[in-house]
Amino acid sequence: MPAIKSLPESFQWGYATASYQIEGSPDADGKGPSIWDTHTHKPNITIDGLTGDTATESYKLWREDIALLKSYGVTAHRFSLSWSRIIPEGSRHSRVNQAGIDYYRNYIQELLKNGIRPYVTLYHWDLPDALDKSYEGWLNKEEIVQDFVYYAETCFAAFGDLVRDWITLNEPWCVANLGYGTGVNAPGRSSDRKRCPTGDSKKEPWIVIHNQILAHAYAVEAYNKTFREAQGGQIGVSLDSFWFIPYDDEPENVAAAQRAMDFRLGLLADPIYKGAYPSSMKKILGDRLPDFTPEEVEVLRASSSDFFGLNTYTTMFVKDGGVSDVLGVVTNTFTGKDGGVIGRESHVGWMRDSFASLPTTLRLTAWTQRYQKPIFVTENGFPAKGENDKPFEEAIKDADRVAYFRGYVNAMLDASVEDGVDVRGYFAWTLLDNFEWADGYTTRFGCTYVDFKTQKRTPKDSAIFLNDVSFGLISLQAF
Ligand code: NOJ
Repeated sequence: MPAIKSLPESFQWGYATASYQIEGSPDADGKGPSIWDTHTHKPNITIDGLTGDTATESYKLWREDIALLKSYGVTAHRFSLSWSRIIPEGSRHSRVNQAGIDYYRNYIQELLKNGIRPYVTLYHWDLPDALDKSYEGWLNKEEIVQDFVYYAETCFAAFGDLVRDWITLNEPWCVANLGYGTGVNAPGRSSDRKRCPTGDSKKEPWIVIHNQILAHAYAVEAYNKTFREAQGGQIGVSLDSFWFIPYDDEPENVAAAQRAMDFRLGLLADPIYKGAYPSSMKKILGDRLPDFTPEEVEVLRASSSDFFGLNTYTTMFVKDGGVSDVLGVVTNTFTGKDGGVIGRESHVGWMRDSFASLPTTLRLTAWTQRYQKPIFVTENGFPAKGENDKPFEEAIKDADRVAYFRGYVNAMLDASVEDGVDVRGYFAWTLLDNFEWADGYTTRFGCTYVDFKTQKRTPKDSAIFLNDVSFGLISLQAF
């Protein structure tokens, strides 16, 4: 009989959520507007024309949500703080809102009472709007880095007696490229003047990448200096990447796949964990990629994070050559050389279920070798095709999502057990159907069905599946 595969005792299972996608109540208890509040109130931003004003009403229904988490048997929960609930105008010169701090302290205490460990993301895309208006937010290095550090220190001081696990930023690549490249996300800047009145897609994303790296590094430095010893926690970042595989064995396509990884993941992970941008990027982008000053390099080197948070959704083939340098002058495709298409279709064009264990295993392995850090899968999830148009009874029988989780969790297990990759936790995206950014409510990623008219929550089969997996009721070996 093959040995039973198992994860370490201390392995954390949970769900991930984000403030703007679930909270609603955009101006409750002194909250200031975020760039997402402003962005979604412009015309033609979301597919269904809706905003996050209501979302899943979790600002009001948080006790119910925590009870749901408890019923799902999680050991941990990853959620984000809304910066503008805590500092309504965002800046280090402005007022801290005690009501915002009280709200999240109550939330964290309730998690702990239920035996659920909080993994706190400081920034999941909802920049205080005042910072965008007064100095163009992430574009302004001198201001944003100091303001982010001030906000981070405020949170370490306010919650650090209860929180051991911090994530500075969520998916900085998306913040830069969707917010300042295509302009689909807030604050909606781009060179496309039909969509956006301001922006420069060739330059701004790289500045925003650079400033986020610095904001992260200086926040880690602040944690190390003032809080680490007393609070005994750990701090990292959540980076997203597709896994890119060469289209074929041609050397230029093999090199292109590595370049695609550099442009999607290395551009953040290399500076954060190794202190410098990948050389392939400087070659292609030249002066558009800002340089780190010697002092910044020192801070980067000294502030290497404790863990690698990985948001992983899908896989693509890569060919050399392409019209845009954003992805490293490559062409991405889901169709392989033999005409076969990767995995099962999802509701969105940018991802398919590519759970074949090999790519994920390799990915986790390679990343551990390159960055030498323990990994938390901080997001992994699937929007089942057409789910929003299905009757409720059908939507909750989400077999495609169950298949997705089965594949990915099993691949993670292979990487952990067979390749010795140090994976310490897994957070499914996401607890509830919610506000999926520019898709509005049309794309459902939740393991819990939400009826947006009544806010009634109902577990889908995937929630029951993940519950059984994490409790060990389904033997992982049986996958
Ligand atoms: C990653 C983002 O962090 C999250 O906010 C988003 O909803 C999921 N991807 C799905 O698109």
